[in-house]
This record gives sequence, structure tokens and C-alpha cells, in this order.
Amino acid sequence: MAIRKRIADVHLHNKIMSAEDAADLIPPGGTVGMSGFTGAGYPKDVPLALAARMERAYQHEHPFKVRVWTGASTAPELDGALAKANGIELRLPYQSDPTCRTRINDGRMEYLDMHLSHVAQAVWEGFLGHLDVAIVEVTAIREDGQLVPSSSVGNNKTWLDCADKVILEVNRWQPEQLEGMHDIYYGTRLPPERRPIPIIAPSDRIGAPYFNCNPDKIVAVVETNTPDRNSAFSPLDDTSRRIAGHILEFLEHEIRRGRLTPGLLPLQSGVGNIANAVMAGLAESRFEGLSAYTEVIQDGMLHLLDTGKLTSASATAFSLSPDATKHLYANLDDYRGRIILRPQEISNHPEVIRRLGCLAMNGMIEADIYGNVNSTHLMGTRIQNGIGGSGDFARNAYISFFMTPSTAKGGAISCIVPMVSHVDHTEHDVHVIVTEQGLADLRGLSPKQRAEQIIEHCAHPDLRPALRDYYRRAMDGASGRHTPHLLDEALSWHLGFVREGKMPPVR
Ligand code: COA
Repeated sequence: MAIRKRIADVHLHNKIMSAEDAADLIPPGGTVGMSGFTGAGYPKDVPLALAARMERAYQHEHPFKVRVWTGASTAPELDGALAKANGIELRLPYQSDPTCRTRINDGRMEYLDMHLSHVAQAVWEGFLGHLDVAIVEVTAIREDGQLVPSSSVGNNKTWLDCADKVILEVNRWQPEQLEGMHDIYYGTRLPPERRPIPIIAPSDRIGAPYFNCNPDKIVAVVETNTPDRNSAFSPLDDTSRRIAGHILEFLEHEIRRGRLTPGLLPLQSGVGNIANAVMAGLAESRFEGLSAYTEVIQDGMLHLLDTGKLTSASATAFSLSPDATKHLYANLDDYRGRIILRPQEISNHPEVIRRLGCLAMNGMIEADIYGNVNSTHLMGTRIQNGIGGSGDFARNAYISFFMTPSTAKGGAISCIVPMVSHVDHTEHDVHVIVTEQGLADLRGLSPKQRAEQIIEHCAHPDLRPALRDYYRRAMDGASGRHTPHLLDEALSWHLGFVREGKMPPVR
């Protein structure tokens, strides 16, 4: 009976059905908008049932696929299961599933990597085609039909508004106390009708705590009781501690120069262990009265809220380890006034990020000596995850930081290279590069000045001579001396790794 309490709108009781029956309502070849953002709030049962249907169809020689749109990465029950069933024709936007990654890199699945703030508007603009079905996890359905979101908001508002049919998963595992944490803004419009997004501070609420959904479009309601699947973070290691230390020292320096105050500016912290470590470093620091306008709330940020140093956090999803989720869910009443979950088009909105002046801190794969950053591709061709929100934040930040260990694969790869093998963030959007070796402040520097800072402060000491040598020879031999490159050698470090398993190449 408990679940019926979660489906208070009695008009929907005759739509309650099994995940298998709901999956049968998805048209082969159709486009499906799924909830889910970094392992939180994704539908748990219908995608699994859809994958099973795809496998049966394959055995009967009627294979079919669908196009999958989400908020960002999801979990093995969604991306993993559909990819294993060879059921995804095209996937967008950010993903991090190993099976999807393999299929994309083998050329068996199409992948469209987009700025996360752009997805909803591109759907409204009609640039991505028609949306057939939305499958959205919710915490509850109210008596009046409004939907209580779950642990992520992502693009759900757009999926619910734009899809022909809606399948709801009501997940009893999500605590009812999530109600009231969300802020769903219905004021977005297409040009030329656009108006300013009225967020002046990260804690501003500008919408409602619920999604609206036309009841006539709801074709199925599926009851689930399954946890979100997020993995634990690696314990803080020396490398991530040193990266965090350089950033904290830099922030102190900015305060001394009068360019920041001890309350800093709203923090944006990207995905992964290093970003998490920076939050842990802030928790030990003297900074007080902090705020966050970010995409995901990770363990480190939750801890920062616990210390009282962080007063409020705006995001679109939780991305917490199982332990941190347990802690959050046991204390939701304490957190409710301090956490806001918004649609990703608002959590990542360039206008708001620029207005608030965020300090954007994101991981990267590699940077080149002139400050271009690759966040997505290994050796120029293999996708790792996707650009996520890093571009939304970096281009519009007050200060944009990109962080990485100076080497990867046990030192075989230099993360500082002559020329990046793929560009996500151009030299124009990258203010500060940080490795465990040090920090390069690139603001106000020309390309050649940047090269000196990046090589001397960020590259691994063992690799500096080879980078200096490249730069010196480029200064002598390049046809232009603004951004000197030896075009026949600029990607030779990557080629060296591909052929010999080691950077720099043997000359
Ligand atoms: N060249 C080749 N491979 C590299 C590399 C390089 N320069 N640097 C790292 N790698 C490899 C690692 O060895 C690792 O491989 P493995 O899984 O086989 O061990 C893999 O890439 C991931 O590296 P890791 O150091 O574990 O990454 P991470 O968890 O710190 O994440 C990014 C780094 C860049 C992948 C991640 O931050 C990301 O996806 N960023 C883009 C999206 C983003 O910034 N989102 C936040 C916006 S709000």
C-alpha cells in the first residue's frame, strides 16, 4: 500500500503496470528521453525491460534500436544494459559507461557530445528531431498530478513537455523528504521571446518544486524500489592533495591581490576524484561563507556543507558515494534549505554563471603548452566520457581552472603536450592550469608567455627538457612565431605513445 501513497493521483492508478508492459510501449527506432544524471535519478526497471525486449527481438531476427537522450551519465541498468543489447543507435549527451564507451570507440554506436546547458534548448529548437517517449523517475505523484522529482533533475522538464508519451517510474527508495528541494523553472523561451533568468544568488529560487505533466500523455506508471548506483570516490592521494593545495594557495594569493574576498565566489566543482579532493581541501581551509553554483553535489561538497563553511549549494544532481547518500538521506530535513536541484539548462546556464562569477574547477585529459585543453579524447580519437558542463562553466567563469596529474599510465603519458590531440576548451577559455607539480596562471599572457609558465610549473620535471626542446625548435623553425609549432611534430608525442607506448617520442 505504501507505493499507492506515492501515487496520490487516483486517475493514474489504471496506468500502473509492469516494467515489461511499459517497455512494450516504446516504438522501435524511436527516440527516448530518459531521466538520470551522473548515476542519480535514472529509471531503473523500464530500460532493463527494454534491453530484454531488444535481446528477444534480436533472437527472432527483428533487431531494433532506439536513440537515447539523457541528462548526463546514468548507470549499468540503463546505458550498460541497452549498450550490451546493441540497442542504442545514438546517445547524447555526457556518458561514462564502459560498454557504451567501447561501442562508441569501436564505431558501433553514434555519440553526440554536447554542452549540457544546450541540450534542452536544442530540443525545443527542433534541432535534434522528434522525442517519442520520456521515461522519468520521480519520487512521488501528488494528488493534483504534479510530479515530485528524485535525486536529479537533468533534462526531465523538457522530456516531459516535449515527448508524445510519458512513462513514469515511481521509486520508493527515493525518500519522500526530497520534496521541496527542487526548483523547476518554467520561464525559458526561445529567441526572440527570451527574458533574463532571474537568479542573482546561488540560493535564489525562481520556480516550483514540482514538474508539470499533461496527464493525457502518461501511458504507464511503474513502481520501483531500487537504489541509485553511484560508486565510491578513491581515497585522497598525494597527487590530488597537492593539486588541491596549489589551488588553495592561489585563492589566498587572489585575496591578497584584492581580486577575491574570503567568501570567494560561487564554486563549481567538476566530476571525479580531484574535484572532490579540492572540496576536501576547502573544508580544512580558513575560507568561510562559501556558496556553490555547480552541476553535481559530490561527497566533498556535502562535507563542506556539514562544516558550515558552505552555506548553500545549487546543482542539478547528487553524485554521491553510497555512504554519503546514506548520510544525506538520513538528514534531508537539515539539508533541504541549503540545497537546490534545478534543470541542467539552469544549473549550467551561461548567463547565470557569468553573472554570479563562478570559480570553475574541472578535470582534463591533457593541456598543451599554449593552454588549449582536451577534456574528452584519449590519443585524439577515443572518447573517454564527454565535455559535460565543463564548457558551460569554463567559458563563462570568473576564473576557470583545469586540473590533472602531470602524467598518466604510470608516467608513460605526459598530460602536458606540445599540441592537444583534441580541443574542448580553447586557450581563450582557460585561465589556470594545475597539476601536482604546480599552477600556471595564464591570465593576461600571450601564447609564448603561457608556454613558459605551463612547461615550468605544470609539466613533470622529467618531461620538461623535451618540451623545452620542442618549444625552442618551434621558435626557430615555425613559419609563424605567435603560436610556434612544428606541424610535422606537434602530435608526435601522441604518435610516440600509440606506436611505442611512451611519451616523449624517441627522436
Ligand atoms: N592521455 C591518455 N589517457 C589519459 C590521459 C592522457 N593525457 N590522462 C588520463 N588518461 C586516462 C587515465 O589513465 C584513465 O584511464 P584508465 O581508466 O584506463 O585508468 C582515464 O584516462 C581517466 O583518467 P582519470 O585520471 O581516472 O580521470 P578522472 O576521473 O580524474 O577524470 C576526466 C578526468 C577528464 C575524464 C573527467 O574529469 C571528465 O570526464 N571531464 C569532462 C567532463 C567535465 O569536466 N565535467 C564536469 C563539468 S561540471
